[in-house]
Amino acid sequence: MTIRKIGVLGAGAMGGGIAHLAAAKGFEVVLCDVEQRFVEGAINRIAAFMDKSIEKQKMTVAEKEVALKRISITTRMEDFASVDMVIEAIFEDIEVKKSAFEKLDKICSPETIFGSNTSSMSITALAAATSRPDKVVGLHFFNPPLIMRLVEVIRGYYTSDETLKLASEAAQMMGKTPVVVKKDTPGFIVNRVMMPQFLEAIRIVEEGIATPEDVDTAVKLGLNYPMGPFELMDYTGVDIAVHVADYFFSESKDTKWNAPQTVKALIRAGRLGKKTGAGWYEHKKKGE
Ligand code: NAI
Repeated sequence: MTIRKIGVLGAGAMGGGIAHLAAAKGFEVVLCDVEQRFVEGAINRIAAFMDKSIEKQKMTVAEKEVALKRISITTRMEDFASVDMVIEAIFEDIEVKKSAFEKLDKICSPETIFGSNTSSMSITALAAATSRPDKVVGLHFFNPPLIMRLVEVIRGYYTSDETLKLASEAAQMMGKTPVVVKKDTPGFIVNRVMMPQFLEAIRIVEEGIATPEDVDTAVKLGLNYPMGPFELMDYTGVDIAVHVADYFFSESKDTKWNAPQTVKALIRAGRLGKKTGAGWYEHKKKGE
């Protein structure tokens, strides 16, 4: 079996980006969301991005048309009946995801692989909502999917070797480097490495040791990271960072994952990062 046709469930930041990437790499894509305006919005964002690529002479008008034609949009999950693989990128809520997987299980062929782009949820728990736990796998893209080179491929308790292989091959065909996460554990690899750094950076500021700007400068120059922890939290969402820390705490009950008060205060003040115009730093919203 080879993956040719991919159903992307959820046309938000990640689903839209994954659909764009997959179509650009030659896959046939069905993009589904709950409302027509969400899928249309995603297509408009993809087309606008491609227009910029044409301006920069990185793409031709003909290539844009071919890539866009590979994506069909829908609000009906039933249109996933003939896909080889589903990539689920809906809200990070276990009950919402489980109910989608349960429905997809009845719609898709028994051979169809179910990949989830979850940042933290248990792949095994999602697989339990289906009658094909051996065909359920984590397929964790990073934001923005078009640019970021990694895909974590996560083995759930029952995921088969064949499913891991097919999922890794699909990631490679999308131009990504797959890294297999051999055990379904909170945060997988990247978030597990990143979260202690975020929390420690916040504690450094709370202890009055340095400012967020100086921590970012130190980390960028000292560790050769492209962004410091505060810049990265603002980019990916301050609320997401706390959400992940809370999840680690709920799984381990280890107080080292307790989110510090200063970051909770930012969230209460609506400072969620770039998306709200302010986080650790002030940001201009688009058009300002
Ligand atoms: P988002 O909020 O931008 O998009 C989610 C989309 O899913 C929305 O358009 C929503 O209408 C749709 N949706 C919700 N329930 C649905 C259903 N039952 N059927 C069809 N569509 C449905 O969220 P985002 O940021 O794209 O995240 C999606 C997933 O990707 C989450 O699991 C998140 O944890 C994960 N993720 C997010 C990253 C990020 O930086 N934003 C990075 C890596 C993974």
